[in-house]
Amino acid sequence: MTLLRLPGLVDAHVHLREPGYEHKEDFYSGTVAALAGGVTTVLDMPNTQPPTATPALLQDKARRAAAKVVCDVGIFAGATNNEIDAYLPAAQTACGLKIYVSDTFGSLRIDDLGLLHRLFRTWGEKGAQVGYRDAQHPHGLGPVAVHAEELMLPVCLALSDLYDVPLHIVHVTRRSEIELIRRAKAHNYRVTCEVTPHHLFLSTEDLSRLGTLGDMRPRLATPDDVAALWENLETIDIFATDHAPHTLAEKGIGVATPPVAPPPGVPGVETMLPLLLTAVHANRLTLDQVLARCVTAPQKLYGLPVQPDTYIEVDVDAEYVLQNAAMKTRVGWTPFADIPVFGRVERVHLRGQVVYEAGQVLAAPGSGHVLFQDALADQ
Ligand code: NCD
Ligand code: ZN
Repeated sequence: MTLLRLPGLVDAHVHLREPGYEHKEDFYSGTVAALAGGVTTVLDMPNTQPPTATPALLQDKARRAAAKVVCDVGIFAGATNNEIDAYLPAAQTACGLKIYVSDTFGSLRIDDLGLLHRLFRTWGEKGAQVGYRDAQHPHGLGPVAVHAEELMLPVCLALSDLYDVPLHIVHVTRRSEIELIRRAKAHNYRVTCEVTPHHLFLSTEDLSRLGTLGDMRPRLATPDDVAALWENLETIDIFATDHAPHTLAEKGIGVATPPVAPPPGVPGVETMLPLLLTAVHANRLTLDQVLARCVTAPQKLYGLPVQPDTYIEVDVDAEYVLQNAAMKTRVGWTPFADIPVFGRVERVHLRGQVVYEAGQVLAAPGSGHVLFQDALADQ
């Protein structure tokens, strides 16, 4: 056994589903799964029911999280078609603004160019007033994070450039997209991007085996697209999971009448570290490349506060097979079931407390912090 002490990971893209979809996940079950994966900070997406689109809904979500989370959590504001930039007065209490401009689960898709202009313009105006979150601006704004595939990607790059808004592209999957982002970075665009483990380790070739359990947005891409992500590792700022749990029944598994349109999305927060450590074991990645993308880069990108006395202990030699039954997520499955991996999280220390050990969570619900909530009170 080789026990390594590593920093707690950040998963900057999770759907904890509360309020509205607690049968899939909630702030407790989702953060328990995070600790099991060695993740001590998660950033929660706004496509809940109702979506996190107003100051009151941001505050309501923060209150729910404060009572339940066992790791730290930041909360995204979400752009909607009807409550246009309603979140702005509380924007500094969000970790960033999420805009969906491509096919997704839920009602948050924006497909009107005029509205998209306005969202970038108003976020940019606010950012010019209060700054973007960094050491000088601890109460500034986070970036705009977009789900923008194919032709919507250059649209968002242009708007970010024209309105001087830092742009983060979530879950990049295609060769054309990663190559465009590489070029935009070379031209000094304020752009960063993330890639999920499922888009690094699965492709269209896995679809027949996985069925609906391999259906997510963006969809699994071709082996050539996957190769392009690996070729452009230096362009990938962060790895984040897009942990998007749906029940097996909703996915049409084990039910007499499968749904006509099963919801896209797969869980992932607790399998990211073993999958990446397995790639380290195979010499496809270095541990430093993993830590840069799962710790330092997301901390910097979102201006996350330091977690003192926080680290994880990982047995990097432990070899085992990922199994649905071992998953802590409420939905109890993983698209990586039956895959052999290296690397088991043995213990998680958060602010000096052992919060996870031997497969058990020891932290009390509500012991995690909800980030950025003092951003307005302190001014
Ligand atoms: C996500 C979900 O289920 O909330 N689904 C997905 O396939 N990724 C939505 C999203 O991130 O687009
Ligand atoms: Zn997502």
